[in-house]
Amino acid sequence: MATVLAIETSCDETSVAIVKNRHVLSNVVASQIKTHAQYGGVVPEVASRQHVEAVNILIEQALSEAGLGWDGIDAIAGTCAPGLIGALLVGLTAAKTLSMLYQKPFIGVHHLEGHIYASYLSNPELQPPFLCLLVSGGHTSLIHVKACGDYVVLGKTRDDAAGEAFDKVARLMQLGYPGGPIIDKLAKDGNPRAFELPEGKISLPEGRGFHPYDSSFSGLKTAMLRLIQKLEVTEDPLPVADLAASFQYTVAKALTKRAIRCALDHGLTTIAVGGGVAANSGLRSQLQTAATAQGLNVLFPPLKYCTDNAAMIACAAVEHFDKDHRSALNLAAQSRLSV
Ligand code: KG4
Ligand code: ZN
Repeated sequence: MATVLAIETSCDETSVAIVKNRHVLSNVVASQIKTHAQYGGVVPEVASRQHVEAVNILIEQALSEAGLGWDGIDAIAGTCAPGLIGALLVGLTAAKTLSMLYQKPFIGVHHLEGHIYASYLSNPELQPPFLCLLVSGGHTSLIHVKACGDYVVLGKTRDDAAGEAFDKVARLMQLGYPGGPIIDKLAKDGNPRAFELPEGKISLPEGRGFHPYDSSFSGLKTAMLRLIQKLEVTEDPLPVADLAASFQYTVAKALTKRAIRCALDHGLTTIAVGGGVAANSGLRSQLQTAATAQGLNVLFPPLKYCTDNAAMIACAAVEHFDKDHRSALNLAAQSRLSV
């Protein structure tokens, strides 16, 4: 087992962490959310510049919080894909430079692998095989984790990712950015059964029913738009809490159904959830209840390791380090790459 320093800059959080085996020694995050909120979403060029400003400071801070110098670090990792290309380049270049300077092995980590392994940080005994429900701003996937580096994607979204749906629906209701946490908070005061909404099933060819694991959230988003337009005629103010609760309930129901079915069909007894939407209270309670009823084990990372952070990247890098996986220093950043 190893001590790894990792840098994550794939989107709008600059983060540096040091993880020893599966234990976090430090994890510092500089969030850009307030900056991007003014524009209603992430502005790539602004994100890159803010990563450049923050990264060196955070590296020093992570070492100091862990009480370590460079001699206590076994390897240096950086997120290499997927994400905003300019943003990725900042962290990846910093990681490669440090690796050359201090003569430490370099490990490029796929961002989604980070979300998969976030569950290890609070459940260090977890071992594959397990099912990962990965629900973030860019992905909604059911991944069979067979071993480190051996993943089979069993289900995915056909259009919007779950987090993207939260963000777009929040924008429709003019609630602000990012939409997930705002809708989650509002939903606590609303009735989840106030409005019936479509779950987004994917039809199979020749009338063979519906895809058991794939999801679609664009129809749900359109249904929310129509509902809001209709309510605007008769209701002032809009029943935002009921709208938020009904939307959140529908997304959580769709994800829960697919994850449970997928785990049972594949004989997997543990579902590890990852990504920003894993922080959602509606999903956490629906999935926990359904999993318990089926005798399945469900693991949610602590909230701070659901959204983007470098601790999860370092944790994934520790797994690779132990398998003697190393990356070449000419490893390219890639904006799109499947896991
Ligand atoms: O994993 P993440 O930090 O970044 C990506 O890799 O995409 O996920 C960000 C997404 C955003 O769409 C945000 O709205 C959503 O996660 N999110 C939530 C919650 N917290 C963050 N969605 C629903 N409920 C939450 N509590
Ligand atoms: Zn992420």
